Amino acid sequence: MISKARVFKPSIRKAGFGDLEAIHALDQRLFPPGVRFDIDLFYFHLLDPASTIFIAGEKDFIGGFVIFERLSPRTGTIVTIDVTPQLQGRGIGAKLMSAVDKLAGRYDLRWIILQVSTANLLAKEFYVKQGYVTTRLLKGYYQGREDAWEMKRRLIN
Ligand SMILES: CC(C)(COP(=O)(O)OP(=O)(O)OC[C@H]1O[C@@H](n2cnc3c(N)ncnc32)[C@H](O)[C@@H]1OP(=O)(O)O)[C@@H](O)C(=O)NCCC(=O)NCCS
Repeated sequence: MISKARVFKPSIRKAGFGDLEAIHALDQRLFPPGVRFDIDLFYFHLLDPASTIFIAGEKDFIGGFVIFERLSPRTGTIVTIDVTPQLQGRGIGAKLMSAVDKLAGRYDLRWIILQVSTANLLAKEFYVKQGYVTTRLLKGYYQGREDAWEMKRRLIN
């Protein structure tokens, strides 16, 4: 466990199957039932050649992760981004997003899209800071019960 007082200097690496339980556990801490993902979804993205999971970590400790998936030759999506609660607001999310940007650049993608719950104001603010703009409202996106904003960012290659 990393305490607030300690400086956490994560490096970014690609996730492997050994990370499955830790990333699932972090997601469960951050999201309520109905919004959080089933472990099978993480397993799918570890197997899927169009997906990449980046981890911000130090040795065995995972401070955060992002799942990115290529949807088409021009478009990718952020499936989710999670930073461990005691380390939020220290630039880890931004670091993970820049790893995604670099990868998207290598694939010559033009757009990255994502969905964020309309109740998740802090994450929406984070994405705005990352250059994303709101494109539309997706009514009932989360199990018919919660709406989401679709957000999009154009990549300049
Ligand atoms: C949203 C999340 C991924 C952001 O990661 P983070 O490591 O906390 O964000 P960073 O520290 O990299 O912040 C980057 C920028 O966004 C801003 N930001 C981050 N969290 C913010 C917040 N709660 N409110 C306002 N701005 C915020 C920071 O001020 C920073 O801007 P700056 O560089 O101008 O100072 C993280 O808070 C998180 O895991 N939240 C819970 C899970 C979640 O909601 N994920 C999104 C799913 S759609």
